[in-house]
Amino acid sequence: MSPRPDAPFLVACRNRPADRVPVWFMRQAGRSLPEYRRLRGTGSILDAVRDPDLAAEITLQPVRRYGVDAAILYSDIVVPVAAVGFGVEIAAGVGPVVARPFRHESDLDRLPPLDPEADCPYVAETVRLAVARLADVPLIGFAGAPFTVASYLIEGGPSRDLGRTKALMLGRPDLWARLLDRLADMAVASLRAQVAAGAAAVQLFDSWAGTLSPDLYERCVLPASAKVFAAVAELDVPGIHFGVTTGELLPLLAEAGAGVVGVDWRVPLDEARRRLGPDVAVQGNLDPAVCLAPWPAVEERVRDVLARNGGRPGHVFNLGHGVLPDTDPAVLERVVALVHEEGGR
Ligand code: CP3
Repeated sequence: MSPRPDAPFLVACRNRPADRVPVWFMRQAGRSLPEYRRLRGTGSILDAVRDPDLAAEITLQPVRRYGVDAAILYSDIVVPVAAVGFGVEIAAGVGPVVARPFRHESDLDRLPPLDPEADCPYVAETVRLAVARLADVPLIGFAGAPFTVASYLIEGGPSRDLGRTKALMLGRPDLWARLLDRLADMAVASLRAQVAAGAAAVQLFDSWAGTLSPDLYERCVLPASAKVFAAVAELDVPGIHFGVTTGELLPLLAEAGAGVVGVDWRVPLDEARRRLGPDVAVQGNLDPAVCLAPWPAVEERVRDVLARNGGRPGHVFNLGHGVLPDTDPAVLERVVALVHEEGGR
């Protein structure tokens, strides 16, 4: 069964008035859920992702538990580069690590074009299984934006300042452009396969774009992400564009071609709206750390986010970044109920 086109999440993504404010949470499938920890065991997430039955089940867990308005595919932004053999692992509690980071022209040879059917058939299979089990709840597919994926390949692991990434960007603009273009093509191939398998919307995660000034973002990053969104437009599904600390970049995230812009909690939603104008839908933006506070404080902050949107169409309620692992699932359950109650018509 495919999701109804009038599902509140899809209607809000199209910037039209929905029956209620839809809500989902980035990283809703994850360590905050006891049922996730039980199913996952201790192996690498990259192994879990290669098991479609398991990955589809994990995708569904937060939908059952929270009653969220959308599911997000259980996968990771580094799955395509790992699938073509670049040599990426995900270290527990750390994130993606690369044994031989991207340094030279010759490293482009380690990034051949992605053929989803041959390189990672398990992703589309997970989408198919999840969509079949979800009935009318839309599934969000996703990819890492070229810049954020490049930052992992170049830094080799987490980095606070992305110094090597920026050095390559500014010192080897030719090589940088080729790298980003390749990663854009990989994201497009991956998103096409996910949508063909049944994903009803896609999100491009440019988590670390906020480390860039607007002029550098516009010159060195936006063209590659715009290429991804141009391909998404042809697929006729809503496209969401998200990054952290992107207050100064919000209009550029929209300019890249996204109909929905994800907003982190540092910019109040009314101000984000002012910067984005009326033609763009917004997603966000409760501070994930607020969910660790006692309920009355959470409730006050949820109401504040809703009030700042002021009933305008095109609001997808979410956190400003991913669910923190220590979050009590009962709190997220109450957040969903409150958003549905307050944001109903
Ligand atoms: O529920 C969901 O959001 C869907 C699944 C999802 C994962 N990663 C699963 C995952 C999604 C959408 C991602 C995207 C992702 N991966 C991003 C963009 C979103 C963001 O958080 O900014 C980034 C930057 C990554 C890279 C990455 N993968 C990091 C930084 C980590 C965290 C390391 C850790 O252990 O804290 C991962 C691992 C990862 N990906 C986990 C999950 C559920 C946690 C480890 C696990 O459960 O095995």
